[in-house]
Amino acid sequence: MSEEPRGAQDGSASTVEGDQSLSVTDNRTGKSYDVEIKDGTVRAMDFRQIKVDEEDFGLMTYDPGFTNTASSRSAVTYIDGEKGILEHRGIPIEQLTEHSNFLEVAYLVLYGHLPTQKEYDEWVYDVTHHTYVHEMIKRFMDGFRHDANPMGMLLASVGALSTFYPEAREVNDDYQRYVSAVRLIAKMPTLAAFAYRHSLGLPYVYPDNDLTYTGNLLSMLFKMAEPRYDPDPRIEKALDVLFMLHADHEQNCSAAAVRVVGSAINDPFTSVTAGVAGLYGPSHGGANVAVLKMLQRIEKVDNIPDFLESVKQGNERLMGFGHRVYKNYDPRARIIRSHVDEVLEATGKQSQLLDVAIELEKRALDDEYFTDRKLYPNVDYWSGIIYEAMGIPTDAFTVMFAIGRTPGWTAQWLELMNDEEFRIARPRQIYTGPREADYVPMNER
Ligand code: CMC
Repeated sequence: MSEEPRGAQDGSASTVEGDQSLSVTDNRTGKSYDVEIKDGTVRAMDFRQIKVDEEDFGLMTYDPGFTNTASSRSAVTYIDGEKGILEHRGIPIEQLTEHSNFLEVAYLVLYGHLPTQKEYDEWVYDVTHHTYVHEMIKRFMDGFRHDANPMGMLLASVGALSTFYPEAREVNDDYQRYVSAVRLIAKMPTLAAFAYRHSLGLPYVYPDNDLTYTGNLLSMLFKMAEPRYDPDPRIEKALDVLFMLHADHEQNCSAAAVRVVGSAINDPFTSVTAGVAGLYGPSHGGANVAVLKMLQRIEKVDNIPDFLESVKQGNERLMGFGHRVYKNYDPRARIIRSHVDEVLEATGKQSQLLDVAIELEKRALDDEYFTDRKLYPNVDYWSGIIYEAMGIPTDAFTVMFAIGRTPGWTAQWLELMNDEEFRIARPRQIYTGPREADYVPMNER
């Protein structure tokens, strides 16, 4: 693709070399233009040269929801939605969840390669030794109402971290980049656990650096009077797998928010706060909460037909189904599903909701309404059942998702900062309001 828009050609003459180009004729003027196709993409700016006259601003592209617009070049995560493929730095998620662990995947996502033993040991050491938060953060948490949503508390406290590390605003400093990534990944479980304990009126539990990343999180969530919390390895593992599945998911709503905010040259704490905000919504990470509430409302298998009918009438959505990118089974859902039974066995919980979830999935997958629209279970369909079995309150589910997604948000921020084409994100609009209207004094309205 050309770096500069080329001038219009009368007739069909082309200035773009080779066959990797698109010829466009503007029927308003009869002029033809050639724009380069690179990586299956044309540059929106190449259309700006298309004008009816010199006064014309030039053609723009319109894409609400960015359904067909690539906003960045990224080497972090590859998804083939048609085939149900998810890879981090080229390694399939199935291999990672089988052989790796969350902290190693976090390193991979952030730095583009699997760590050597030395790199891994240093990384785990650094993350483990940055889990404490400033005591004033605890007081900041205390300011929330007893029933504050833990996701709202997480959002505010991640934003507050930026004020504790003002040096992170040195966004070009390699050490600041590294230590901010470490701090974000290390402190997110602490903030999440404090938010959870606050909502229950329980004292905060400080990090235990002798436990694993997920073992420490379980300790901060559930430790009571015992001298040391002893996490069940099956639950530690299931949580670790969930975090690996969440580690990154390319340009979704929250990652896009991180990049947009980061593009104003914001530090990673401020930028990741935008990611947490994006994830909060029920169409994104909040879907795991919505799934559980939906299953509770359906209550029993007998009620499934009425519920599905209501979905088909357009009255509500089958939460945990559908995805903008996956038009096949979400590979993350398949992996999570395989851990549900193990977690229920470890917690000794009977989940009536599991029966509803299994039957609801089966019936939806047999129903043309869903298959015609390529609606399949996504990652959030099963994660809520696991979190519920672990004893995590529904409102805190999305907080768990946020812990897992933190490496991805940080990696997207780092990649943006290194982008040769870095520019502040600033979309265009199609203005639909009035023009040149006169101000009307109050007494004449
Ligand atoms: N239940 C019922 N119908 C649905 C659903 C659903 N969950 N999702 C999409 N549809 C229908 C929709 O009504 C539309 O039908 P029609 O063509 O007749 O109007 C068609 O499928 C296409 O839907 P869309 O809204 O244009 O699709 P989208 O790509 O804009 O939305 C989505 C993707 C994930 C927001 C949507 O599928 C949804 O709301 N799902 C439920 C919420 C959910 O589970 N979100 C978690 C996503 S995975 C976790 C993450 O990465 O954040």
